[in-house]
Amino acid sequence: MLSSKHILLIIGGGIAAYKSLDLIRRLRERGATVTPVLTRAGGEFVTPLSVSALAGVEVHQDLFDLTKEADMGHIQLSRSADLLVVAPGTADLMAKMAQGRADDLASTLLLATDTPVLVAPSMNVRMWDHPATQRNIATLKADGVAIVGPNDGDMACGEYGPGRMAEPLEIVAAIEAKMGDGPLKGKRVLVTSGPTHEPIDPVRYIANRSSGAQGTAIGAALAALGAEVVFVTGPADAPPPSGVEVVKVQSAAEMLAAVEAALPVDAGIFAAAVADWRVASESGSKIKKQDGKLPTLEFAENADILAKVSQMKTGRPSLVVGFAAETDDVITNATAKRKRKGCDWIVANDVSPETGIMGGSENDVMLISETGSEDWPRMSKEAVAERLALKIAEELADAD
Ligand code: CTP
Repeated sequence: MLSSKHILLIIGGGIAAYKSLDLIRRLRERGATVTPVLTRAGGEFVTPLSVSALAGVEVHQDLFDLTKEADMGHIQLSRSADLLVVAPGTADLMAKMAQGRADDLASTLLLATDTPVLVAPSMNVRMWDHPATQRNIATLKADGVAIVGPNDGDMACGEYGPGRMAEPLEIVAAIEAKMGDGPLKGKRVLVTSGPTHEPIDPVRYIANRSSGAQGTAIGAALAALGAEVVFVTGPADAPPPSGVEVVKVQSAAEMLAAVEAALPVDAGIFAAAVADWRVASESGSKIKKQDGKLPTLEFAENADILAKVSQMKTGRPSLVVGFAAETDDVITNATAKRKRKGCDWIVANDVSPETGIMGGSENDVMLISETGSEDWPRMSKEAVAERLALKIAEELADAD
């Protein structure tokens, strides 16, 4: 719920502006007050009348509206809000934000405040991929601006790829995660998820059967409790959760680099099924068949990300949680694994094919810590995630 929260919504000039009308409705349903601001370009896509009718208040458009300057100046407008949401966040609006320009009402409001800001980018895939946009996004993130989306998909311009604005309910989830008063508010948590792909050559790779479902559910559950979640995911089937910062990687080496870049965090949850080995000398060109001769692959060991973080001398997260996917002697192996890697907890599960856990919707886990083990009943992966997230919240509260 967002009751008594005040959101200043800046609607930029993109085709996704129509979704922002639904966003206003969804926010108001949850008890939030929405003050809408329409940029000049935004006004080309949706009318001020629809925006103000849905928001139930007048829409702000002009920087130099002297009547409003007299009773409620633009500075007051953004400072009285609990959160500024920019949706659609166009490439141009984000470029202005990154540079600190203030040449219209929206950019002035964004510069004249220290209220938290959430941007839902929306643009053509090539604009999104452009180094200038990526540079601006990195600057905004470094400035503490939260980003939701964009999603991959068909675009209004006929192209396909990342750039589609997040759906209204995904934006609502990101807003709730940022503003909710959950027990993990103010905590930064890292989650790794999904499989890794280890390249053999440009077209082949070694993978595993992880769907990423458990990691996704954990990311969502932690965000729902108010945590700021950095979600580092390999190429998973499950789409990443809403309201988290998503970092997509392919290989174990990329996952390690993304994890190191996300530190420091209060807790690290390592749910990814990381490949233990990579092909030692990945071929730069496609390996061809050679008259019945079989290729030989040499392997090299990947760094153990969980062990590396668990054994950090300085800046170790207060809580490090690993997973143990076992097929035999689950408790014995998982207990030994916890000690060997040096993490605080291990969530152990039996991934023998007859359990249907790997790739399925349920999980049957045992939580192992230094003080003993808890056997949880078989339940959905979402329920496991919620229970684990609550336990993490209790643990971090105790650590404070
Ligand atoms: N893990 C990791 N980096 C690796 C390998 C594993 O971070 N290179 C993490 C996983 O995310 C998981 C835990 O270590 O949290 C255990 O993974 P698992 O595959 O069960 O253990 P292994 O170390 O691979 O041991 P084994 O395969 O011998 O059972």
